[in-house]
Amino acid sequence: MNAESASGTTVIRRLWPSDQSQITEHFRQLDGQTRRMRFGGAVSENFVEQYAGKLIELGTILYGAFPDGHLRAVGELRGLLDDWPASAEAAFSVQQPWQDKGLGAALMDRVVAAAQNRGVKSLHMICLKENEKMQHLALKHDAILDFNRYEVEAKLDRPWPTPFSVAEEIANDAQGFVQAVLRWPGGLGQGA
Ligand SMILES: CC(C)(COP(=O)(O)OP(=O)(O)OC[C@H]1O[C@@H](n2cnc3c(N)ncnc32)[C@H](O)[C@@H]1OP(=O)(O)O)[C@@H](O)C(=O)NCCC(=O)NCCS
Repeated sequence: MNAESASGTTVIRRLWPSDQSQITEHFRQLDGQTRRMRFGGAVSENFVEQYAGKLIELGTILYGAFPDGHLRAVGELRGLLDDWPASAEAAFSVQQPWQDKGLGAALMDRVVAAAQNRGVKSLHMICLKENEKMQHLALKHDAILDFNRYEVEAKLDRPWPTPFSVAEEIANDAQGFVQAVLRWPGGLGQGA
C-alpha cells in the first residue's frame, strides 16, 4: 500500500516492547530532513539506532501510527526526570511520505491525553524555529510558544484527568495491546 491510500485503515496504538524491531526500523527510515527536525540537528545512523533502542527501557510512553500495517509515525511522552510527572516532554516523528496526512495530529491527541491522565501539568515540546508545522499543531492544543534564537518551546498546561479521559485511554490501550499480541511472532495473527 502506498502513502496515498492510508485513510480509513490507520491504527493508532500504544507501542510495547514487542514492537521494538518496528520502532528501530521507523527511526532508521527517517530521512535526513525529518531527523534534523526531530532531533534539532544532523544525527548519525548509529545515534538513531541507539536512541530507538533505549526508548522503552527509559520508560518513554510511545504511541505509533500504522496507516498501512507498518509503523510510520511515533509520538513520545517522557517525564522530565527531576519533575515527573508534573512536567513531561513530547516529541513526534512521521516518515516523510506519510507526513501531512493527519498522523502527527492524531498522535499528538493521544500523547496529550496520556499526559493529562498521568497528572502532567506542564507538557513541553521543543522544535526548531523553522518548524512551523509542529508549532501549528501545538497551537491547536492551546500551547504557549516561547521563542529563542534557534528553537521554540511549546508549553501546554493540562487540566487534571477525568474519569472519562482515564477510561478512554484504558479502552484504547487494551484494544492496541490485543493488536500488538496478534502481531507478535507466533501470535494468533501470524501465519494463519
Ligand atoms: C511535524 C510532524 C510531526 C507533523 O506530523 P504530520 O503528520 O506531518 O502533520 P499532520 O498532517 O497531522 O498536520 C499538519 C498540520 O500542519 C499544517 N501545516 C502543514 N505545513 C505547514 C506549515 N509550513 N506551516 C504551518 N502549518 C503547516 C497542516 O495544514 C496541518 O494542519 P491542519 O490539520 O490544521 O490543516 C511531522 O511532519 C514530522 O515528523 N516532521 C519531522 C519531525 C518533526 O518536526 N518533529 C517535531 C519535533 S519533535
